Amino acid sequence: MSILNILQHPDDRLHVTAKRVERVGKATRQLVEDMAETMYSASGIGLAATQVNVPERVIVVDITDTRDDLLVLINPEIESREGTVVFEEGCLSVPGIYDRVERSERIMVRALNVEGEAFNIEAAGILSVCIQHEIDHLDGKVFVEYLSRLKQNRIIKKLLKNQRNPDQ
Ligand code: NI
Repeated sequence: MSILNILQHPDDRLHVTAKRVERVGKATRQLVEDMAETMYSASGIGLAATQVNVPERVIVVDITDTRDDLLVLINPEIESREGTVVFEEGCLSVPGIYDRVERSERIMVRALNVEGEAFNIEAAGILSVCIQHEIDHLDGKVFVEYLSRLKQNRIIKKLLKNQRNPDQ
C-alpha cells in the first residue's frame, strides 16, 4: 500500500472528467487500497480518484469516527434524489476552507464494489452529502465552485499563498 499525493485546488487536473472503470481487476483494487490509506492518513471522510490524479470513476468514503467502515463506490450513479440539505463542507484538495453547500438530502446510488458486483445504497445526511461531493470530483467539480465568484477568488488567493509558504 502507499499514500498518494493529493492534488490541491486550483489544479487543472481536478477539472478532468473521470472515465468509467471498464473492468474491476487487480489494478482497481490496488487503487482502492491506496486511496483508502491516503484518506485515512489525511483524516478525510471521502476521497475521489480524481484527487490523486487517476481520472477513473472510483471513490472511497468512511464517515465513522472509528474509521472502520470503508465504502467503495466504482462507477457510482445517482438514481434518485429527495429533499435538500445544507452542510458545511471541507475537502482534502482545499485545505483549511469550509463553507456551506446545498445538496440533495437523500439519494439512491447504484455502483460496483471492489469485486465488480453491482449494488444499491440509500444514503441520507452526511453520507449523502459526502457521496455527492465525491461524485462531483469525478465530474471535475470542486465544492468551492458552488460559492460566489468573489469567495472563490479569495479562496484561490489564500490557497496559492499557503502553497508558496507552507509553514506560515
Ligand atoms: Ni473533496
